[in-house]
Amino acid sequence: MKLFSFFILVLIEWTSAVIYRLNETEYYRMPPVTHLDPYERCLSRPGGVYCSAELGVVADGPNELYSLMKEYSEHTVTHFNRTQLFYGVCMTSTCRDFYNANETDLKHILEACLNKTLWDEYQLKTRVTELISCDKHGDTKQVYAADIVVAVILMLIVMLNLIGSLYGFYCISRNKQDRNWLLCFSIVHNWEKLVKPPNPDPEVARFRGLSGMRSLTMMLVILGHAFLPSALSAVNEFEFEQLYDNLAYQIFFNGTLIVQTFFVISGFLLMMKILTYSEHHQMSWRMVPKGIISRWLRLTPSYAVLLAFTATWMRFTGAGPFWARIAEIEVNDCRRHWFYNLLYLNNYIDKSHCMTHTWYLACDMQLHVLGLIILGVFTSGRARKIALGCLFTVGMLTPMLHTYFQNLDAVLLVSPTIMTTFFVTDPTFNNVYKRSHTNIVNFALGLIAGWIVHGWKKKQIDEANFKKYRYGMWLVWPAMLGVVDLGALFYQARPPPARPLRALYSSLVKASFGMCAVLVIMGCVLRVEDLYRGILEWRGWTALARLSYCAYLIHVMLIRILGGMRSTLTHVSFLQINMEVYGMIALALLVAVPFWLMVESPLSQLVNILLAGNEKEKPTKTEVNMNEKTEKK
Ligand SMILES: *[C@@H]1O[C@H](CO)[C@@H](O)[C@H](O)[C@H]1NC(C)=O
Ligand SMILES: *[C@@H]1O[C@H](CO)[C@@H](O)[C@H](O)[C@H]1NC(C)=O
Ligand SMILES: *[C@@H]1O[C@H](CO)[C@@H](O)[C@H](O)[C@H]1NC(C)=O
Ligand SMILES: *[C@@H]1O[C@H](CO)[C@@H](O)[C@H](O)[C@H]1NC(C)=O
Repeated sequence: MKLFSFFILVLIEWTSAVIYRLNETEYYRMPPVTHLDPYERCLSRPGGVYCSAELGVVADGPNELYSLMKEYSEHTVTHFNRTQLFYGVCMTSTCRDFYNANETDLKHILEACLNKTLWDEYQLKTRVTELISCDKHGDTKQVYAADIVVAVILMLIVMLNLIGSLYGFYCISRNKQDRNWLLCFSIVHNWEKLVKPPNPDPEVARFRGLSGMRSLTMMLVILGHAFLPSALSAVNEFEFEQLYDNLAYQIFFNGTLIVQTFFVISGFLLMMKILTYSEHHQMSWRMVPKGIISRWLRLTPSYAVLLAFTATWMRFTGAGPFWARIAEIEVNDCRRHWFYNLLYLNNYIDKSHCMTHTWYLACDMQLHVLGLIILGVFTSGRARKIALGCLFTVGMLTPMLHTYFQNLDAVLLVSPTIMTTFFVTDPTFNNVYKRSHTNIVNFALGLIAGWIVHGWKKKQIDEANFKKYRYGMWLVWPAMLGVVDLGALFYQARPPPARPLRALYSSLVKASFGMCAVLVIMGCVLRVEDLYRGILEWRGWTALARLSYCAYLIHVMLIRILGGMRSTLTHVSFLQINMEVYGMIALALLVAVPFWLMVESPLSQLVNILLAGNEKEKPTKTEVNMNEKTEKK
């Protein structure tokens, strides 16, 4: 027993006084983390001024409540930082004794005012750490030149859609041969493309499960993100923090692993594409730049349109106490950092809120380039085997080393404080989660899986051979869920595990989740069993998979706009969370439909025309099929 407790002590890092649990009575003695005065009412009055600010609570001298708050905040994983508050204050009513229209130092006024209110109620004082925004009655936002330029471009796209649709409607009905680039913009034509049934060719149909995986993963990503603003606006903080104890919610909190599926799919498809290509063509390093450029051209147009909108007109879509903190911050960062996004380097830029979720696109692009280089340079089987082995090893080591030497969390921990900043300030997010070199492992697994599957297919192995593994396959999804829920260990009411353990876990968990994804893919492609495959090959996924790129691009903007427009706190509950996340999935998909029809599909067809114009040789049939499949992640 003694040995056991010694073992526990070694495993657990010692930290100073921490309060893990409080009963409700004690809990609500602390001032609320977020407080909002009525926003619309305040600004409706002439002269009304409403300020939002981040505050640090301080105490003059010893204070029992203050030490309680500090000790309670030490457990950052599941507790709010109780000494860091967000207040929205109507200066002209709540602080009317301090406010004076001639005085310009609003920060000082707010601090004096809050010093008084917090002192009266809690015997605490405060420092305004950041005056986030001050809105005045009758404020209007200025329109800049960049806004006009973007508006013109957007109008142009809409015009092209109108003209293209009319053209498609009147001309094509008469002359079916007449194929004009204007037809790319025909909405009817694009709608037909969107709902087109999947390709019935059996060799292509094999890969149909990937559409299902991609759509499901995209929905789960949105599901995880939709929940983020709740942390800032929860009125029942006590219950909110208790969500972490519930295993069912761990799917939200540990769902961050799900994005690894994309990397596996990406590696798998790249390998299949290259191997299929090299059956008919000589491989050379010269295809590397070509591959990079064509991928950039395929992914960038709709991304650029959305980025331009985010950097300009998104400012005008709402207002509220949270607006500057949740939405405007992204607008400002996009103005500053947009070129990193377009060059797909934004996952190596920290502290930028500009379309933070597109770290994945950057990462995927970089891994794709890496994969192309490796496959383009090492063309013999033996060299490739060694290269892939090295890639996998490097992929296993990088998260481990980062976690160990930078003393990071084992997984991305979705703590209440981190949720309110959309992860941007989190060291684990910045150093391990979003970098390319720390996400290699599953890309490598995808490449290896692609190679194996291609080999088996070439050898024409009888599929009946694989059927015996179907009972094993059924265990894969529970295993995935298990891997996800295992992360619950890190949310427990105790100090974090020791560094070596965290380091080990950080790369093992990625690889295990990736292995599960590989097994699901192989199970679909090799037709091992029919249950999961049936679900993943459902016809409806085909259209959703086409929309998934747009929905992915758009969803964070919707979440930020909706979150930023909140002007009251909400009661967080099981049903409310469900309504919010499923509502957001539906909304993102709904908005993605017109975006796909009017922007994504026309522009990518234009790019295809452009690329085909440069291409001397006609692509072979299989290549076209592969392109269709890899058509946007
Ligand atoms: C909550 O905890 C405090 C201090 O530990 C105790 O005095 C109080 O009785 C408890 N209240 C309830 C309702 O259990
Ligand atoms: C809580 O916030 C305060 C003020 O921003 C900061 O000084 C403190 O380090 C934070 N506490 C923890 C445990 O992160
Ligand atoms: C503010 O300044 C104006 C003119 O400068 C003056 O008439 C007014 O009395 C001042 N108001 C206060 C509250 O000091
Ligand atoms: C508010 O109280 C803190 C702590 O006593 C003090 O440092 C600060 O100067 C006060 N602010 C104002 C504006 O009085």
